[in-house]
Amino acid sequence: MITAALYDAKSYDREYFEKAAGRENIAWHFHEFRLSAETASTAAGREAVCVFVNDRVDRSCLTELSKAGVRHIALRCAGFNNVDVAAANELGFTVTRVPAYSPHAVAEHAIALLLTLNRRIHRAHNRVREHNFSLGGLVGFDIHGKTAGIIGTGKIGRIAAQIFRGFGARVLAHDPFPAADWANEAGVEYSDLDSLLENSDILSLHLPLTPETFHLFSEDTFRKLKPGAYLINTSRGKLIDTTALIQSLKSGRLGGVALDVYEEEEGVFFEDLSDKVLQDDELSRLLTFPNVLITSHQAFLTREALAEIARVTTANLNQFQAGEPFLSGTEVR
Ligand code: NAI
Repeated sequence: MITAALYDAKSYDREYFEKAAGRENIAWHFHEFRLSAETASTAAGREAVCVFVNDRVDRSCLTELSKAGVRHIALRCAGFNNVDVAAANELGFTVTRVPAYSPHAVAEHAIALLLTLNRRIHRAHNRVREHNFSLGGLVGFDIHGKTAGIIGTGKIGRIAAQIFRGFGARVLAHDPFPAADWANEAGVEYSDLDSLLENSDILSLHLPLTPETFHLFSEDTFRKLKPGAYLINTSRGKLIDTTALIQSLKSGRLGGVALDVYEEEEGVFFEDLSDKVLQDDELSRLLTFPNVLITSHQAFLTREALAEIARVTTANLNQFQAGEPFLSGTEVR
């Protein structure tokens, strides 16, 4: 039996972890709060912790976890920018993640955001509920014949690119490691970043957050975009400088922005703050624009993805307990 503490636990996490195959050997302790240096002592007596995108597993948190006796960090997500992996390895932790639980879930959500924003579905829905059947202000554009720029052609970016091809869009792509065979087959053209920025009507971000990609979308980047371009970010909030984004929206340069992730989402996204005063002025400002659509980091939230996250994480905890190698491609070093 292995004991594990799962942080930032939501009802759907419990549901899927409690029915995953292999759960019999794991004593789960679910915590609704997030893991950080301040809360790490709650892991005392557990051999593993299971964390999500907004738990802050930095060096000081890891030091506390080490004192508490924890030896394994299981990320139940793909991105691992919130874990100081070098410090974790130095302190003797093993770290695993779920590299691909459903790339389809995320790519499909990116397209859902674009379609909603472009065709004003969210606004139309509210109007019709009020028995307002007018169409003023609801004009969108055909995606067919437009140019979509995909930044990052890994698992999710490739699926998004293929969906855009299905709409009859031209697809430009940028990635430091281009997949030439896939691009030929899918009818996708690789390009340098500047030409992609200058020529795309729609931009969709599918690259990881790293020190190099932090604020990839800065004031300078927004200046290079085709006027009226739409930007979709389902990757990580810190890829975009929010202050520059707001300026670009105010100036009318951007046609619209759809975000599933936000620079300062920690402590806000995933929470019900409906009876609280929102303290983040930039998020509040973004919510005032008619051409901004925000979801609360839900691109991964499909039945298939949740089942796969629970399956891989559970299997890896069992492997850890047995001293066996982790599932292929899941260990982070
Ligand atoms: P992946 O690792 O399969 O692909 C990432 C691609 O980005 C790679 O091909 C890599 O070469 C490329 N890349 C790296 N640096 C780049 C740069 N500077 N410019 C352009 N491309 C660059 O990752 P995957 O599974 O496709 O996920 C992409 C991102 O989506 C993740 O890093 C994560 O942040 C985000 N994500 C968001 C979710 C959500 O619920 N909103 C859920 C899952 C992932």
